[in-house]
Amino acid sequence: MPDSNTPLPVSEHVEAEGHLIDSHIMEQIFDTVVEFQGRFEVERFHIGRTNSDPSHLRLRIEAPSESALQRMMTQLLGLGCSPVDTSDAELATVVRDCCAPEDFYSTTNHRTMVRRNDAWVTASNQRMDALIVVKDNHAVCRRLRDVRAGDQVVVGMRGIRVVPETKERDRHSFAFMSNGISSERQVETAVRQTAALCRQTLEQGLKIIVVAGPVVVHTGGGPPLSKLIRGGFVHAILSGNALGVHDAEASILGTSLGVSQIDGRQQEHGHRNHMRAINAIYHAGGIPQAVADGTLSSGILFECVKAGVPFVLAGSLRDDGPLPDTITDMNQAQNAYAAHLTGAGLVLCLGSMLHSIAVGNMLPSWVKIVCVDINPAVATKVSDRGTGQAVGVVTDVGLFLDLLARSLGTS
Ligand SMILES: NC(=O)c1ccc[n+]([C@@H]2O[C@H](COP(=O)([O-])OP(=O)(O)OC[C@H]3O[C@@H](n4cnc5c(N)ncnc54)[C@H](O)[C@@H]3O)[C@@H](O)[C@H]2O)c1
Repeated sequence: MPDSNTPLPVSEHVEAEGHLIDSHIMEQIFDTVVEFQGRFEVERFHIGRTNSDPSHLRLRIEAPSESALQRMMTQLLGLGCSPVDTSDAELATVVRDCCAPEDFYSTTNHRTMVRRNDAWVTASNQRMDALIVVKDNHAVCRRLRDVRAGDQVVVGMRGIRVVPETKERDRHSFAFMSNGISSERQVETAVRQTAALCRQTLEQGLKIIVVAGPVVVHTGGGPPLSKLIRGGFVHAILSGNALGVHDAEASILGTSLGVSQIDGRQQEHGHRNHMRAINAIYHAGGIPQAVADGTLSSGILFECVKAGVPFVLAGSLRDDGPLPDTITDMNQAQNAYAAHLTGAGLVLCLGSMLHSIAVGNMLPSWVKIVCVDINPAVATKVSDRGTGQAVGVVTDVGLFLDLLARSLGTS
């Protein structure tokens, strides 16, 4: 490494704007430059004077090589720090379906704009790991498998602006949102604040989506979740085969995984019960038909059918059955999840590592996520997506749902 006075061979001017200090973005920008063996010089820094005023930062950055600068810039763009220039985003044409030009721009989950004809255009369908397809003056995020020959996609790093979400300013009312993971001690606070978020989401006319695993049924979370559905607090349930199977088992046979829902005792031959439930749903022809003919007369999916709340059961390699309603084509299942997540303001992820992480990957960074799991590692993994977006609550999901249903006055 040359001494600190010798300039490094390549350099660039970059700038960032937003709540750079209290969201720790400025610190991350400096760390990123150093991590890539680069140097920075602060050319301008203006601190926002009020709590709503953004700050503005302009840096000259240096790197040891062009490739190091490109890698550094990729990271910096994700932090909302882009090159100071006035060029439009560079586009290249896709020559074969599902095959992108090598230097395609891969999105983050943050709001992204591209410059077209000197104006900034916001990309729609924001999600991470997508390409940006530009047509006329519109930009849209599209998965690699969905790009088609002839599409114009953004390449390189010029003319792109990423706007990271900044930390909740209202720390008093949503304190747990800025704390990351809530421990057992803070569950009641987390429930109260989740209830407030639910109400706020409805007031804003946005959807509340529940992502749930079968442990919701095993832990007695079925009845409170049913109350939330009846109370209008759920706009879709995204799950897998097992939730449907055990919910049907609980409704038809009063057990989940063969364990009595009333007294917690393992029933004799109870291990067959989930297969008997799958069989009963097959006899009916599917879940809506099982509700119509009385095979299902209670439970999460019964309430969904009655209330017209859509549900998606995505298949997995672990599935028994699966139920006839399970979508076993993974691309179709992902599409169905994504369709219901459009317009969501709050997503409650309840005891499913697989489906919670999948949903986290599909959401833009401004949709709030509350992830309830007994395993702190899962809550951390889901929470780890942009400042202020997600919070983990480490507790039993049945207990959480019971407290939430009470807090929302549905009991
Ligand atoms: N019989 C079946 O067909 C069957 C059975 C099980 C799972 N599956 C399928 O396998 C896939 C993955 O299943 P999954 O989502 O249950 O598994 P998963 O491993 O992805 O997630 C289960 C999560 O529940 C958490 N958990 C366990 N006990 C808890 C509690 N008391 N409170 C809160 N969280 C708790 C765990 O920490 C874990 O993160 C799904 O698609 C599912 O449908 C099928």
